[in-house]
Amino acid sequence: MPDGQDKLRRSTSEDDITAAVLARFSATQDPRLRRIMLTLIKHLHEFVKEVELTETEWFQAIEILTEAGKMCSDKRQEFILFSDTLGVSMVVDLIDHRKPEGATESTVFGPFHRLGAPDMPPGGNIAHRDTTGIPTLVSGRVLDLDGKPIAGAVLDVWQTQSNGLYDSQDAAMDGLHMRGKFTTDSEGRYLLRTVQPVNYPIPSDGPVGAMLKATGRHPWRPAHIHFVVMADGYEAVTTHIFDRTDPYLESDAVFAVKDSLICDFARHEEPTAEAAKLGITGPVSVAEFDFVLKPAGAVVQANVLDAQRRLAALGARA
Ligand code: BEZ
Ligand code: FE
Repeated sequence: MPDGQDKLRRSTSEDDITAAVLARFSATQDPRLRRIMLTLIKHLHEFVKEVELTETEWFQAIEILTEAGKMCSDKRQEFILFSDTLGVSMVVDLIDHRKPEGATESTVFGPFHRLGAPDMPPGGNIAHRDTTGIPTLVSGRVLDLDGKPIAGAVLDVWQTQSNGLYDSQDAAMDGLHMRGKFTTDSEGRYLLRTVQPVNYPIPSDGPVGAMLKATGRHPWRPAHIHFVVMADGYEAVTTHIFDRTDPYLESDAVFAVKDSLICDFARHEEPTAEAAKLGITGPVSVAEFDFVLKPAGAVVQANVLDAQRRLAALGARA
């Protein structure tokens, strides 16, 4: 080969390009970033080659991501919806929150947490402006792995209204609603009042909805209540409890159901003694669920609590 000819023969095949890109990133100083970038390039290039992506399809992907970016606002996080509906959030959750036997399992954080939920007393009603839902009491204990109660644990709770909307999605609702923070008593007990959770569709008027429609998927999530349960010295857990009777348990749009998080919501036609004490006069639904926390690993603790702040920083309304 004449002098200099080798330099001219650059990146002529698909694999040459992949090798050149990998070589360029291999100088990355930070070992974790290096691993992530090299593996990302490897799989991304393999994907493009395997499906033989056309320029039209690639441009369509750029349009979809651009549209997703434009949809993000103080009330909407389209990229979290993509992550959730592609199952990526749950894979990350499983890798990053490995739990010992007996500890409450985590599940997706979702895009609808808001900072600033009010502190509530035992029996406090997070659904005080909901006039159509079935009054519901949720109670239980927060325990450690040995079954000992954790006093002073905080449960940050959020849920849709009985119309299936979060407060931030409901034009008729200003301020916070269906949100509260409850603190466990000396026996680790908590009690909250809400309305019976309902199943609801995730927002589907944007690119995520278009993807679900084009692939024959529905947008529904089974009825659930969100919790972040935290206590000093323990790893906080971001989780839900799900209604056992919900028809979407098997096909949650975001793959977030775990058997251990399924819970009975028992309907009583007459108020129970506890419901009567709280002023409930008609039918009431009652659920019991204990949360079990594992001792803190400092790094993971920071991750869970950071997620709330990071979502807020992305623009979620406080
Ligand atoms: C939610 O349950 O709030 C949720 C989770 C993932 C995507 C959309 C909504
Ligand atoms: Fe939800």
